[in-house]
Amino acid sequence: MKTTELKQKLDEIFGQSNVQTRIFFSPGRVNLIGEHTDYNGGYVFPCALDFGTHLVIRENDQNVYRFATTNFEQKAEIEVSNNLPKVSNHWYNYPMAVIDQFNKKGNSFHGLDFLFSGKIPNGAGLSSSASIETVTAYALNELFGMKYDLWELIKLSQKAENEFIGVNCGIMDQFAVTMGKENHALFLNCATLDYEAIPLIMDGHKLIISNTNSRRGLTDSKYNERRSECEAAVEMLNEKKQIENLSALNYAEFMSMKELVSDPIVFRRAKHVISENNRVLNAIEALKNNELVKFGELMNQSHDSLRDDYEVTGTELDTLVEEARKLEGVLGSRMTGAGFGGCTVSLIKEEIIEDFKIKVGKAYFDRTGLVPEFYVAAVGDGIKEV
Ligand code: GLA
Repeated sequence: MKTTELKQKLDEIFGQSNVQTRIFFSPGRVNLIGEHTDYNGGYVFPCALDFGTHLVIRENDQNVYRFATTNFEQKAEIEVSNNLPKVSNHWYNYPMAVIDQFNKKGNSFHGLDFLFSGKIPNGAGLSSSASIETVTAYALNELFGMKYDLWELIKLSQKAENEFIGVNCGIMDQFAVTMGKENHALFLNCATLDYEAIPLIMDGHKLIISNTNSRRGLTDSKYNERRSECEAAVEMLNEKKQIENLSALNYAEFMSMKELVSDPIVFRRAKHVISENNRVLNAIEALKNNELVKFGELMNQSHDSLRDDYEVTGTELDTLVEEARKLEGVLGSRMTGAGFGGCTVSLIKEEIIEDFKIKVGKAYFDRTGLVPEFYVAAVGDGIKEV
């Protein structure tokens, strides 16, 4: 929908008003490598996509927050209060979670009308939640001249997801959709929050996202479980060396202390995280040296580690990856995001895009009965006012 149409839609849903209406945008993201490392103080390498969530917003004089979206019929009207209720699993918990965080920081609002319009498939691991959270945080900050900087808005949005939604996510998604840069991927050190935008120069190659179209109900609880397993590993390792998180150890150090991690499952979780950090560093070096074949191999190793050691892939993601890797011209293929369903990202030669869609699509359908979707990723900028 065009921006003028979005404004009209807002008037249609909530009635005409003389108050100024503003439009903001936050993209989705795809993570190229560095999975389940962010909440372990490790490295990630995501980029923002050229599609995401628009938010049309204006004040009202009714002392209610009114939420609507062009994606579903479901609307809501919630009385303004500094103690907002979480409403089961409804989508508008995401903007409410952000308002709640602003309230906790001592900012209160009067009535507001929100119309969201999202292009990111829900639950596909492309950060539809972070996109809604950050666009809400950014819009409110601009609308009320609150002067929080981008990092404060990123952290506020992450906290909104942790506390109100109850998913103990790391900072990667909110960071990537906010700071995204066209044709660049962002190398973030999640312990220090230092980052570098690295040009994605991929002559003759493309990133293709394949959606399993399968969303597992257990994603959130399994995600939190993985996080606790990593904390358990830190606690065991602390017997010998005081560390704040798993990324404080390099692979050799970790292996030399491996007998401390007596639980085999916890050991494999930690091994994934620590080896994944290495893969991120190697992948970035490969990209800088124009060694895309090597970059692809590291993507493959990342997936295999997420499948065997971290156990967050599942049949659908593994099938998509296996079928992709069978094709000539596929340099690498891996799951992206939290896992348990959602999407894969593959690095492929440009000339095989159509072939890829047909062959992988058919083989995946034959094996799972599901029809996948494909998006050729265009890497866009981060959050902005439209
Ligand atoms: C989700 C979380 C991120 C990150 C990834 C896994 O997308 O929101 O913080 O942990 O999973 O890498």
